[in-house]
Amino acid sequence: MKTDQALILKNEKIAADTFRMILKTDIAEEVQCGQFVQVQVPGFYLRRPISVCMADEETLTLVYKTVGDGTKAMSEMEAGQSINLFGPLGHGFPVEKRSVLLIGGGVGTPPLLLTAKKYIEAGQKVTAVLGYNDKASLMLEEEFRELGASVYAATMDGSYGTQGTVLDAIRENGIEETYVLACGPLPMLKAVSAAYSEGCVSLESRMACGMGACMGCVVKDQNGESMRVCKDGPVFEIGKAVL
Ligand SMILES: Cc1cc2nc3c(=O)[nH]c(=O)nc-3n(C[C@H](O)[C@H](O)[C@H](O)COP(=O)(O)OP(=O)(O)OC[C@H]3O[C@@H](n4cnc5c(N)ncnc54)[C@H](O)[C@@H]3O)c2cc1C
Ligand code: FES
Repeated sequence: MKTDQALILKNEKIAADTFRMILKTDIAEEVQCGQFVQVQVPGFYLRRPISVCMADEETLTLVYKTVGDGTKAMSEMEAGQSINLFGPLGHGFPVEKRSVLLIGGGVGTPPLLLTAKKYIEAGQKVTAVLGYNDKASLMLEEEFRELGASVYAATMDGSYGTQGTVLDAIRENGIEETYVLACGPLPMLKAVSAAYSEGCVSLESRMACGMGACMGCVVKDQNGESMRVCKDGPVFEIGKAVL
C-alpha cells in the first residue's frame, strides 16, 4: 500500500450520475479484485473510499456515483489533472478454482468487473447478474460480456432486463450457480445472504483512516466482536457479519 499522485487519463460520464475515472498510477500493479483506494479529492479533508473497478500494470479504473460534494468535485476533474490515491486497501474477493455467480447492485457493480476478469483468466465460468433502478443507471454490462461472462440484468422499473431484483433475475433465468460474490446496497446483500450459504459479500461503511487504526468503520460479527470494514473487509464470508 502506498500514496501516489495519480494522473487522470480520462473522466467520463457512463450512466445516470455515474462516472468512470481512468488513472495512471503505480498502485495499479498491486491491486487484487475487491480492494479499494482512498481518494483525496482536492479541497476535502477526509479521503473517499472507492473500489477498484479494473486494473492493469499501469492504469486503474474507478467507477463512482455522485452522491455528495466529494464525488461531485471528483466528477468535475479533467484529464491531465492529478489526484492523490492511497491504497490498495482491504481484503478483496477470493479467486477460487470454481465457477462463480457475481451479483452486483447499482454502484456495487464496479469491483465485480476485475473479479470477473480474474476468474476468467483462471479458466472459470462467470455468470454476472446486475441490478439497477432503471435503464439509465445501467453500467458495465458490455464490459462484463467482453470479458466472456454470461450477463443478466434486472431493473426495478422493468425498463431493461427482468423487472425486479437480482434474485428475480436469477429465478427467471434459471441460474443454478451456488458460489456467490456480491456487492451492492445493504437490502440486496441481506437478501443474497438469506438465499446463499457459500461465498462473500462486500460491505460499505463510513471511513476515516481506511487502514485499520481509528475503528471508525466497524461492524459486528455473529459473536458481537468488532470487525473493521476497511482492514478485515470490505469482503466478508456470507454469514460472518451482522448485516
Ligand atoms: C470500501 C468502499 C468501497 C466503495 N466503492 C465505491 C465505488 O466503487 N463507487 C462508488 O460510487 N462508491 C463507492 N463507495 C461509496 C463512496 O465512498 C461514497 O459514495 C463517497 O465517499 C461519498 O462521498 P461524497 O463526498 O460524495 O458524499 P458525502 O455524503 O458528502 O460524504 C460525506 C462523508 O461521508 C462519507 N460517505 C458518504 N457516503 C458513504 C458511503 N456510502 N460509504 C462510505 N463512506 C461514505 C464520505 O466518504 C465523506 O467522508 C465505497 C465505499 C466503501 C466503504
Ligand atoms: S476507517 Fe479507520 S479503522 Fe476502518
